[in-house]
Amino acid sequence: MDRIRLVGGNELNGEILISGAKNAALPLMISSLLTHEPLVLENVPRLADVKQLERILENHGVDIAVHGRRRGEAEGGGQRMTFHAKDIVDTTAPYDLVSKMRASFWVIGPLLAREHNARVSLPGGCAIGTRPVDLFLYGLKALGADIDIDEGYVVAKAPKGGLVGTTITFPKVSVGATHTILMAATLAKGTTIIENAAREPEIGNVAECLVAMGAKISGIGTERLVIEGVSELHGATHEVLPDRIETGTYAMATAMAGGNVLLRGARAEHLQAALDTLSGSGVHITNEDNGIRVYRNGNGIQPVDVETQPFPGFPTDLQAQFMALMTMSTGTSHIRETIFENRYMHVAELARFGADISVDGQVATVHGKPQLKGAQVMATDLRASVSLVIAGLAARGETIVNRVYHLDRGFERLEEKLSRCGAEIERLAS
Ligand code: UD1
Repeated sequence: MDRIRLVGGNELNGEILISGAKNAALPLMISSLLTHEPLVLENVPRLADVKQLERILENHGVDIAVHGRRRGEAEGGGQRMTFHAKDIVDTTAPYDLVSKMRASFWVIGPLLAREHNARVSLPGGCAIGTRPVDLFLYGLKALGADIDIDEGYVVAKAPKGGLVGTTITFPKVSVGATHTILMAATLAKGTTIIENAAREPEIGNVAECLVAMGAKISGIGTERLVIEGVSELHGATHEVLPDRIETGTYAMATAMAGGNVLLRGARAEHLQAALDTLSGSGVHITNEDNGIRVYRNGNGIQPVDVETQPFPGFPTDLQAQFMALMTMSTGTSHIRETIFENRYMHVAELARFGADISVDGQVATVHGKPQLKGAQVMATDLRASVSLVIAGLAARGETIVNRVYHLDRGFERLEEKLSRCGAEIERLAS
Protein backbone atom coordinates (compact mmCIF):
# COMPACT_ATOMS: atom_id res chain seq x y z
CA MET A 1 0.00 0.00 0.00
CA ASP A 2 1.23 3.50 -0.85
CA ARG A 3 2.30 5.85 1.90
CA ILE A 4 2.75 9.61 2.05
CA ARG A 5 5.91 11.15 3.40
CA LEU A 6 6.03 14.76 4.41
CA VAL A 7 8.40 17.06 6.18
CA GLY A 8 6.67 19.84 8.07
CA GLY A 9 7.62 23.45 8.49
CA ASN A 10 7.06 25.01 5.05
CA GLU A 11 4.43 27.68 4.56
CA LEU A 12 1.86 27.21 1.80
CA ASN A 13 1.80 29.92 -0.84
CA GLY A 14 0.12 30.00 -4.24
CA GLU A 15 -3.09 28.61 -5.72
CA ILE A 16 -5.01 25.39 -5.35
CA LEU A 17 -7.64 24.48 -7.94
CA ILE A 18 -10.66 23.01 -6.14
CA SER A 19 -11.98 19.83 -7.77
CA GLY A 20 -15.58 18.81 -8.35
CA ALA A 21 -17.32 17.57 -5.20
CA LYS A 22 -17.17 13.83 -4.59
CA ASN A 23 -20.43 13.98 -2.64
CA ALA A 24 -22.22 15.56 -5.59
CA ALA A 25 -20.54 13.53 -8.34
CA LEU A 26 -21.64 10.21 -6.81
CA PRO A 27 -25.41 10.93 -6.63
CA LEU A 28 -25.27 12.72 -10.01
CA MET A 29 -23.78 9.58 -11.55
CA ILE A 30 -26.52 7.52 -9.88
CA SER A 31 -29.18 9.87 -11.34
CA SER A 32 -28.20 8.61 -14.80
CA LEU A 33 -30.09 5.40 -13.95
CA LEU A 34 -33.35 7.37 -14.15
CA THR A 35 -33.29 7.88 -17.93
CA HIS A 36 -32.59 5.86 -21.07
CA GLU A 37 -30.90 8.94 -22.54
CA PRO A 38 -27.27 9.99 -21.93
CA LEU A 39 -26.41 12.20 -18.95
CA VAL A 40 -23.26 14.26 -19.45
CA LEU A 41 -21.48 15.37 -16.28
CA GLU A 42 -18.77 18.02 -16.27
CA ASN A 43 -16.10 18.58 -13.63
CA VAL A 44 -16.18 14.99 -12.32
CA PRO A 45 -13.22 14.50 -9.96
CA ARG A 46 -10.68 11.73 -10.56
CA LEU A 47 -11.21 9.69 -7.41
CA ALA A 48 -11.24 6.05 -6.36
CA ASP A 49 -14.88 6.39 -5.19
CA VAL A 50 -15.91 7.60 -8.66
CA LYS A 51 -14.14 4.58 -10.22
CA GLN A 52 -15.85 2.26 -7.77
CA LEU A 53 -19.29 3.68 -8.59
CA GLU A 54 -18.50 3.32 -12.32
CA ARG A 55 -18.11 -0.44 -11.72
CA ILE A 56 -21.46 -0.59 -9.95
CA LEU A 57 -23.27 1.38 -12.66
CA GLU A 58 -21.67 -0.70 -15.41
CA ASN A 59 -23.02 -3.79 -13.72
CA HIS A 60 -26.53 -2.34 -14.08
CA GLY A 61 -25.88 -1.79 -17.81
CA VAL A 62 -24.71 1.84 -17.89
CA ASP A 63 -22.28 2.75 -20.70
CA ILE A 64 -19.66 5.17 -19.45
CA ALA A 65 -17.34 7.35 -21.52
CA VAL A 66 -14.66 9.79 -20.43
CA HIS A 67 -14.15 12.69 -22.83
CA GLY A 68 -10.84 14.42 -23.48
CA ARG A 69 -9.86 17.95 -22.65
CA ARG A 70 -11.48 20.66 -24.80
CA ARG A 71 -9.86 23.77 -26.27
CA GLY A 72 -9.71 26.53 -23.66
CA GLU A 73 -10.12 24.18 -20.70
CA ALA A 74 -7.66 24.57 -17.85
CA GLU A 75 -5.11 21.81 -17.31
CA GLY A 76 -6.00 19.67 -14.30
CA GLY A 77 -9.71 20.48 -14.56
CA GLY A 78 -12.36 17.85 -13.90
CA GLN A 79 -13.42 15.15 -16.32
CA ARG A 80 -16.36 15.35 -18.71
CA MET A 81 -18.12 12.01 -18.64
CA THR A 82 -21.21 10.50 -20.25
CA PHE A 83 -23.40 7.99 -18.42
CA HIS A 84 -25.87 6.22 -20.62
CA ALA A 85 -28.36 3.84 -18.95
CA LYS A 86 -30.16 2.92 -22.19
CA ASP A 87 -31.20 -0.42 -20.83
CA ILE A 88 -31.02 -1.53 -17.19
CA VAL A 89 -29.88 -5.13 -17.51
CA ASP A 90 -29.63 -6.00 -13.83
CA THR A 91 -31.44 -4.48 -10.83
CA THR A 92 -29.20 -6.21 -8.28
CA ALA A 93 -26.35 -4.29 -6.66
CA PRO A 94 -24.19 -7.07 -5.20
CA TYR A 95 -22.46 -7.14 -1.82
CA ASP A 96 -18.90 -7.20 -3.14
CA LEU A 97 -19.50 -3.89 -4.95
CA VAL A 98 -21.80 -2.09 -2.47
CA SER A 99 -19.78 -2.99 0.64
CA LYS A 100 -16.82 -0.93 -0.64
CA MET A 101 -18.75 2.34 -0.67
CA ARG A 102 -21.88 3.22 1.26
CA ALA A 103 -23.22 5.75 -1.27
CA SER A 104 -23.69 2.97 -3.82
CA PHE A 105 -26.71 1.86 -1.75
CA TRP A 106 -28.45 4.96 -3.13
CA VAL A 107 -28.99 3.20 -6.51
CA ILE A 108 -32.03 1.65 -4.85
CA GLY A 109 -34.04 4.87 -5.45
CA PRO A 110 -33.64 5.19 -9.23
CA LEU A 111 -33.78 1.42 -9.83
CA LEU A 112 -37.05 1.14 -7.99
CA ALA A 113 -38.49 4.23 -9.68
CA ARG A 114 -37.58 3.20 -13.23
CA GLU A 115 -37.60 -0.62 -13.13
CA HIS A 116 -40.09 -1.03 -10.26
CA ASN A 117 -37.81 -3.43 -8.43
CA ALA A 118 -34.35 -3.46 -6.91
CA ARG A 119 -32.20 -5.85 -4.92
CA VAL A 120 -29.42 -3.93 -3.21
CA SER A 121 -26.96 -5.24 -0.66
CA LEU A 122 -27.09 -3.59 2.75
CA PRO A 123 -23.97 -1.42 2.96
CA GLY A 124 -22.88 -2.84 6.32
CA GLY A 125 -20.96 -1.12 9.09
CA CYS A 126 -18.35 1.51 8.59
CA ALA A 127 -15.45 2.89 10.57
CA ILE A 128 -17.26 6.05 11.67
CA GLY A 129 -20.42 4.52 13.09
CA THR A 130 -23.25 2.10 12.50
CA ARG A 131 -24.89 4.19 9.74
CA PRO A 132 -28.23 2.39 9.42
CA VAL A 133 -30.60 2.61 6.41
CA ASP A 134 -33.90 2.87 8.31
CA LEU A 135 -34.65 6.35 6.92
CA PHE A 136 -34.22 5.14 3.33
CA LEU A 137 -36.58 2.22 3.93
CA TYR A 138 -39.09 4.45 5.70
CA GLY A 139 -39.14 6.80 2.70
CA LEU A 140 -39.34 4.07 0.07
CA LYS A 141 -42.18 2.31 1.95
CA ALA A 142 -44.05 5.61 2.13
CA LEU A 143 -43.80 5.80 -1.67
CA GLY A 144 -45.58 2.45 -1.75
CA ALA A 145 -42.64 0.06 -2.04
CA ASP A 146 -42.81 -3.36 -0.53
CA ILE A 147 -39.52 -4.00 1.30
CA ASP A 148 -38.00 -7.28 2.45
CA ILE A 149 -34.60 -8.02 3.90
CA ASP A 150 -33.28 -11.25 2.43
CA GLU A 151 -29.78 -12.66 3.03
CA GLY A 152 -28.26 -9.23 3.58
CA TYR A 153 -30.08 -7.65 0.65
CA VAL A 154 -32.87 -5.10 0.61
CA VAL A 155 -35.41 -6.45 -1.85
CA ALA A 156 -37.75 -3.66 -2.91
CA LYS A 157 -40.77 -3.81 -5.20
CA ALA A 158 -42.90 -0.90 -6.36
CA PRO A 159 -46.67 -1.30 -6.52
CA LYS A 160 -48.23 -2.12 -9.89
CA GLY A 161 -47.85 1.00 -12.04
CA GLY A 162 -44.91 2.34 -10.01
CA LEU A 163 -44.17 4.41 -6.91
CA VAL A 164 -46.82 6.80 -5.64
CA GLY A 165 -46.09 10.28 -4.31
CA THR A 166 -46.85 11.18 -0.69
CA THR A 167 -45.59 13.38 2.15
CA ILE A 168 -42.49 12.05 3.89
CA THR A 169 -41.31 13.70 7.08
CA PHE A 170 -37.85 12.50 8.01
CA PRO A 171 -37.41 12.22 11.79
CA LYS A 172 -33.70 12.98 11.31
CA VAL A 173 -31.78 14.84 8.62
CA SER A 174 -30.01 12.42 6.27
CA VAL A 175 -28.09 13.37 3.16
CA GLY A 176 -28.26 9.91 1.60
CA ALA A 177 -31.95 9.33 2.37
CA THR A 178 -32.83 12.76 0.93
CA HIS A 179 -30.88 12.04 -2.30
CA THR A 180 -32.50 8.63 -2.64
CA ILE A 181 -36.10 9.68 -2.06
CA LEU A 182 -35.65 12.78 -4.22
CA MET A 183 -34.42 10.65 -7.13
CA ALA A 184 -37.15 8.06 -6.63
CA ALA A 185 -39.92 10.67 -6.40
CA THR A 186 -39.10 12.23 -9.79
CA LEU A 187 -40.77 9.24 -11.51
CA ALA A 188 -43.48 8.55 -8.89
CA LYS A 189 -47.13 9.18 -9.65
CA GLY A 190 -48.40 12.45 -8.17
CA THR A 191 -46.72 14.77 -5.69
CA THR A 192 -44.08 13.90 -3.11
CA ILE A 193 -43.22 16.31 -0.34
CA ILE A 194 -40.01 15.70 1.61
CA GLU A 195 -40.10 17.47 4.98
CA ASN A 196 -36.91 17.87 7.04
CA ALA A 197 -34.84 17.26 3.89
CA ALA A 198 -31.07 17.68 4.08
CA ARG A 199 -30.02 21.05 2.63
CA GLU A 200 -26.42 20.29 1.75
CA PRO A 201 -25.34 22.12 -1.46
CA GLU A 202 -24.78 18.72 -3.11
CA ILE A 203 -28.53 17.99 -2.78
CA GLY A 204 -29.28 21.26 -4.58
CA ASN A 205 -26.74 20.36 -7.27
CA VAL A 206 -28.46 17.00 -7.85
CA ALA A 207 -31.95 18.55 -7.76
CA GLU A 208 -30.91 21.06 -10.43
CA CYS A 209 -29.57 18.24 -12.59
CA LEU A 210 -32.86 16.36 -12.19
CA VAL A 211 -34.74 19.52 -13.24
CA ALA A 212 -32.51 19.74 -16.34
CA MET A 213 -33.52 16.12 -17.01
CA GLY A 214 -37.20 17.10 -16.94
CA ALA A 215 -38.08 16.59 -13.27
CA LYS A 216 -40.44 19.03 -11.55
CA ILE A 217 -38.92 20.06 -8.22
CA SER A 218 -39.49 23.14 -6.09
CA GLY A 219 -38.06 24.18 -2.74
CA ILE A 220 -34.48 23.42 -3.85
CA GLY A 221 -32.08 24.51 -1.11
CA THR A 222 -34.76 24.35 1.59
CA GLU A 223 -35.82 21.67 4.07
CA ARG A 224 -39.07 21.12 2.15
CA LEU A 225 -38.71 19.63 -1.31
CA VAL A 226 -41.82 19.28 -3.47
CA ILE A 227 -41.59 16.89 -6.40
CA GLU A 228 -44.30 16.48 -9.04
CA GLY A 229 -43.73 13.08 -10.60
CA VAL A 230 -43.31 12.83 -14.38
CA SER A 231 -43.60 9.72 -16.56
CA GLU A 232 -40.01 9.88 -17.83
CA LEU A 233 -36.82 11.90 -17.66
CA HIS A 234 -34.47 12.75 -20.51
CA GLY A 235 -30.75 13.38 -21.01
CA ALA A 236 -28.99 16.58 -19.90
CA THR A 237 -25.59 18.15 -19.37
CA HIS A 238 -24.74 19.24 -15.86
CA GLU A 239 -21.69 20.47 -13.93
CA VAL A 240 -20.53 19.08 -10.59
CA LEU A 241 -20.15 21.89 -8.06
CA PRO A 242 -16.79 22.60 -6.38
CA ASP A 243 -15.91 20.43 -3.39
CA ARG A 244 -16.60 22.39 -0.19
CA ILE A 245 -14.89 19.76 1.96
CA GLU A 246 -11.72 19.89 -0.14
CA THR A 247 -11.96 23.70 0.10
CA GLY A 248 -12.27 23.62 3.89
CA THR A 249 -9.46 21.09 4.13
CA TYR A 250 -6.97 23.27 2.22
CA ALA A 251 -8.16 26.34 4.12
CA MET A 252 -7.28 24.55 7.37
CA ALA A 253 -4.00 23.30 5.90
CA THR A 254 -3.04 26.89 5.08
CA ALA A 255 -4.13 28.04 8.53
CA MET A 256 -2.00 25.33 10.07
CA ALA A 257 1.15 25.75 7.96
CA GLY A 258 0.84 29.53 7.58
CA GLY A 259 1.06 31.33 4.23
CA ASN A 260 -1.30 32.71 1.63
CA VAL A 261 -3.30 30.50 -0.73
CA LEU A 262 -6.06 31.18 -3.24
CA LEU A 263 -8.55 28.30 -3.33
CA ARG A 264 -9.55 28.70 -6.96
CA GLY A 265 -13.17 27.96 -7.85
CA ALA A 266 -14.26 27.63 -4.20
CA ARG A 267 -17.61 29.10 -3.19
CA ALA A 268 -17.79 30.65 0.28
CA GLU A 269 -21.57 30.24 0.62
CA HIS A 270 -21.06 26.46 0.59
CA LEU A 271 -19.00 26.47 3.77
CA GLN A 272 -19.71 29.75 5.52
CA ALA A 273 -19.90 28.15 8.99
CA ALA A 274 -16.43 26.63 8.60
CA LEU A 275 -14.98 29.87 7.21
CA ASP A 276 -16.50 31.86 10.08
CA THR A 277 -14.96 29.41 12.53
CA LEU A 278 -11.56 29.82 10.89
CA SER A 279 -11.90 33.61 10.99
CA GLY A 280 -12.71 33.27 14.68
CA SER A 281 -9.42 31.46 15.16
CA GLY A 282 -7.52 34.42 13.70
CA VAL A 283 -7.10 33.28 10.08
CA HIS A 284 -7.77 35.89 7.38
CA ILE A 285 -10.35 34.82 4.82
CA THR A 286 -11.35 36.97 1.87
CA ASN A 287 -13.77 36.34 -0.96
CA GLU A 288 -12.33 37.01 -4.39
CA ASP A 289 -13.94 36.84 -7.83
CA ASN A 290 -12.34 33.51 -8.63
CA GLY A 291 -12.27 31.86 -5.21
CA ILE A 292 -11.43 32.22 -1.53
CA ARG A 293 -8.13 33.51 -0.21
CA VAL A 294 -6.79 32.16 3.07
CA TYR A 295 -3.95 33.96 4.79
CA ARG A 296 -2.06 33.63 8.06
CA ASN A 297 1.27 35.34 8.68
CA GLY A 298 2.76 33.80 11.76
CA ASN A 299 0.19 34.95 14.31
CA GLY A 300 -1.10 32.40 16.82
CA ILE A 301 -4.23 30.31 16.25
CA GLN A 302 -6.98 31.16 18.73
CA PRO A 303 -8.99 28.31 20.27
CA VAL A 304 -12.62 28.10 19.04
CA ASP A 305 -15.39 25.72 20.11
CA VAL A 306 -17.39 23.99 17.37
CA GLU A 307 -20.27 21.60 17.07
CA THR A 308 -20.92 19.62 13.89
CA GLN A 309 -24.39 20.07 12.39
CA PRO A 310 -26.20 19.36 9.14
CA PHE A 311 -25.82 22.12 6.53
CA PRO A 312 -25.64 25.11 6.97
CA GLY A 313 -23.84 24.22 10.22
CA PHE A 314 -20.20 23.18 10.62
CA PRO A 315 -19.75 19.97 8.55
CA THR A 316 -18.80 16.70 10.20
CA ASP A 317 -16.53 16.08 7.20
CA LEU A 318 -14.28 18.94 8.41
CA GLN A 319 -14.26 17.98 12.07
CA ALA A 320 -11.00 15.97 11.97
CA GLN A 321 -9.18 18.66 9.99
CA PHE A 322 -10.35 21.37 12.39
CA MET A 323 -9.23 19.29 15.33
CA ALA A 324 -5.76 19.06 13.76
CA LEU A 325 -5.69 22.87 13.60
CA MET A 326 -6.83 23.23 17.21
CA THR A 327 -3.93 21.05 18.42
CA MET A 328 -1.69 24.08 17.83
CA SER A 329 -4.02 26.77 19.19
CA THR A 330 -2.96 29.04 22.04
CA GLY A 331 -5.57 27.59 24.45
CA THR A 332 -8.28 24.96 24.91
CA SER A 333 -11.08 24.23 22.47
CA HIS A 334 -14.06 21.88 22.62
CA ILE A 335 -15.34 20.00 19.59
CA ARG A 336 -18.72 18.30 19.72
CA GLU A 337 -19.48 15.66 17.05
CA THR A 338 -23.25 15.31 16.77
CA ILE A 339 -23.66 13.53 13.40
CA PHE A 340 -21.69 10.29 13.77
CA GLU A 341 -21.22 8.46 17.06
CA ASN A 342 -17.73 7.16 16.42
CA ARG A 343 -15.88 9.80 14.49
CA TYR A 344 -12.91 10.36 16.77
CA MET A 345 -10.51 7.69 15.57
CA HIS A 346 -8.08 10.37 14.44
CA VAL A 347 -7.64 11.41 18.09
CA ALA A 348 -5.27 8.54 18.86
CA GLU A 349 -3.30 9.23 15.69
CA LEU A 350 -3.07 12.99 16.36
CA ALA A 351 -1.72 12.07 19.81
CA ARG A 352 1.23 10.44 18.03
CA PHE A 353 2.25 13.96 16.91
CA GLY A 354 2.22 14.98 20.57
CA ALA A 355 -1.29 16.51 20.50
CA ASP A 356 -3.15 16.75 23.81
CA ILE A 357 -6.77 15.65 23.24
CA SER A 358 -9.24 13.90 25.50
CA VAL A 359 -12.65 12.57 24.52
CA ASP A 360 -15.72 12.31 26.71
CA GLY A 361 -18.76 11.05 24.83
CA GLN A 362 -19.53 13.44 21.98
CA VAL A 363 -17.02 16.05 23.12
CA ALA A 364 -13.30 16.24 22.40
CA THR A 365 -11.25 18.71 24.44
CA VAL A 366 -8.13 19.90 22.67
CA HIS A 367 -5.35 21.63 24.61
CA GLY A 368 -3.24 23.49 22.09
CA LYS A 369 0.55 23.10 22.00
CA PRO A 370 3.12 25.36 20.40
CA GLN A 371 4.65 22.62 18.23
CA LEU A 372 3.72 19.12 16.99
CA LYS A 373 6.40 16.56 16.15
CA GLY A 374 6.33 14.41 13.00
CA ALA A 375 5.33 10.75 13.42
CA GLN A 376 4.32 7.52 11.70
CA VAL A 377 0.54 7.51 11.58
CA MET A 378 -2.23 5.43 10.10
CA ALA A 379 -5.55 6.61 8.73
CA THR A 380 -8.87 4.96 9.46
CA ASP A 381 -11.22 6.89 7.21
CA LEU A 382 -11.17 9.47 4.48
CA ARG A 383 -11.43 12.74 6.37
CA ALA A 384 -9.35 11.45 9.29
CA SER A 385 -6.49 10.65 6.91
CA VAL A 386 -6.33 14.14 5.58
CA SER A 387 -6.29 15.57 9.11
CA LEU A 388 -3.05 13.66 9.61
CA VAL A 389 -1.57 15.18 6.45
CA ILE A 390 -2.52 18.65 7.70
CA ALA A 391 -0.93 17.97 11.08
CA GLY A 392 2.21 16.73 9.32
CA LEU A 393 2.48 20.00 7.36
CA ALA A 394 2.97 21.93 10.58
CA ALA A 395 4.85 19.31 12.60
CA ARG A 396 8.60 19.44 13.09
CA GLY A 397 10.41 16.73 11.12
CA GLU A 398 9.19 13.78 9.09
CA THR A 399 5.69 12.30 9.01
CA ILE A 400 4.67 9.10 7.26
CA VAL A 401 0.95 8.56 6.65
CA ASN A 402 0.09 4.92 6.04
CA ARG A 403 -2.98 3.51 4.26
CA VAL A 404 -3.16 6.22 1.66
CA TYR A 405 -6.01 4.51 -0.20
CA HIS A 406 -8.45 6.36 2.06
CA LEU A 407 -7.11 9.68 0.74
CA ASP A 408 -7.40 8.56 -2.87
CA ARG A 409 -11.10 7.91 -2.31
CA GLY A 410 -11.80 11.59 -1.81
CA PHE A 411 -8.84 13.88 -2.58
CA GLU A 412 -7.65 14.37 -6.14
CA ARG A 413 -3.87 14.87 -6.64
CA LEU A 414 -3.41 15.87 -3.00
CA GLU A 415 0.41 15.69 -2.98
CA GLU A 416 0.65 17.67 -6.23
CA LYS A 417 -1.72 20.40 -5.05
CA LEU A 418 0.16 20.83 -1.77
CA SER A 419 3.68 20.55 -3.16
CA ARG A 420 2.94 23.22 -5.78
CA CYS A 421 2.29 25.55 -2.84
CA GLY A 422 5.61 24.73 -1.23
CA ALA A 423 4.88 21.71 0.96
CA GLU A 424 7.52 18.98 1.14
CA ILE A 425 5.29 16.00 0.41
CA GLU A 426 5.66 12.88 -1.72
CA ARG A 427 3.99 9.53 -2.28
CA LEU A 428 6.02 6.44 -1.51
CA ALA A 429 4.83 3.65 -3.77
CA SER A 430 4.42 0.26 -2.13
C1 UD1 B 1 -23.20 11.95 3.64
C2 UD1 B 1 -21.83 12.22 3.07
C3 UD1 B 1 -20.77 12.14 4.16
C4 UD1 B 1 -21.14 13.07 5.32
C5 UD1 B 1 -22.57 12.83 5.78
C6 UD1 B 1 -23.04 13.85 6.81
C7 UD1 B 1 -21.91 11.49 0.77
C8 UD1 B 1 -21.46 10.51 -0.27
N1 UD1 B 1 -21.53 11.26 2.03
O1 UD1 B 1 -23.17 10.63 4.16
O2 UD1 B 1 -19.52 12.53 3.59
O3 UD1 B 1 -20.26 12.83 6.40
O4 UD1 B 1 -23.48 12.89 4.67
O5 UD1 B 1 -22.93 15.13 6.29
O6 UD1 B 1 -22.54 12.47 0.47
N2 UD1 B 1 -28.81 7.83 9.58
C9 UD1 B 1 -29.76 7.02 10.17
N3 UD1 B 1 -30.59 6.27 9.37
C10 UD1 B 1 -30.50 6.31 8.01
C11 UD1 B 1 -29.54 7.17 7.41
C12 UD1 B 1 -28.70 7.92 8.23
O7 UD1 B 1 -29.86 6.95 11.40
O8 UD1 B 1 -31.26 5.62 7.34
C13 UD1 B 1 -27.91 8.62 10.45
C14 UD1 B 1 -26.44 8.30 10.24
O9 UD1 B 1 -26.06 7.16 10.97
C15 UD1 B 1 -25.81 9.57 10.76
C16 UD1 B 1 -26.81 10.65 10.34
O10 UD1 B 1 -28.04 9.97 10.10
O11 UD1 B 1 -25.72 9.54 12.15
C17 UD1 B 1 -26.44 11.43 9.11
O12 UD1 B 1 -26.09 10.54 8.08
P1 UD1 B 1 -26.32 10.87 6.55
O13 UD1 B 1 -26.63 12.33 6.38
O14 UD1 B 1 -27.29 9.89 5.98
O15 UD1 B 1 -24.88 10.58 5.93
P2 UD1 B 1 -24.53 9.90 4.55
O16 UD1 B 1 -25.57 10.26 3.53
O17 UD1 B 1 -24.19 8.47 4.76
